[in-house]
Amino acid sequence: MSRQISLDELRAHGLRDRIEASSSSNPAPTTMMGRLQAMREVERKLVEEFTAADPKPTLWMALHGKVLDVTTFVTMHPGGLKVILYYAGSDATGPFATIAHSRSAHTMIERFTIGELVP
Ligand code: HEM
Repeated sequence: MSRQISLDELRAHGLRDRIEASSSSNPAPTTMMGRLQAMREVERKLVEEFTAADPKPTLWMALHGKVLDVTTFVTMHPGGLKVILYYAGSDATGPFATIAHSRSAHTMIERFTIGELVP
């Protein structure tokens, strides 16, 4: 049977919680531009933190009920490092579907799967 992984365990394998907790944009921005700016700021900090990290953190991401270990993939993603860092530790099913990912991208998901997200 495949390993069952809870949302809390998944969240512990991302960087975003830590960065948002120390974010200056408190209270949360209410305008579209404000939210976009806050997201850019988080992405910038994520890349900064990831680049400086030694050893590199273990990164997991959930897609379609599966949990993937994207630690080795993060720097190889053709769509860039930022989005993987941003969605690591969370369920990226929605964002993943907004991009017309190819069949080979979908096949890669199998390769990185380490368990199933507890519903
Ligand atoms: C483990 C999960 C993922 C895998 C294996 C993956 C794989 C890929 C691959 C192979 C490509 C190249 C184009 C293609 O073959 O479709 C790509 C492009 C891209 N991906 Fe992902 N991806 C993942 C997650 C995500 C997530 C969560 C997002 C968030 C929105 C994302 C956003 C993008 C973007 C923006 C591009 C560039 C599209 C373009 O240039 O037109 N990807 N991805």
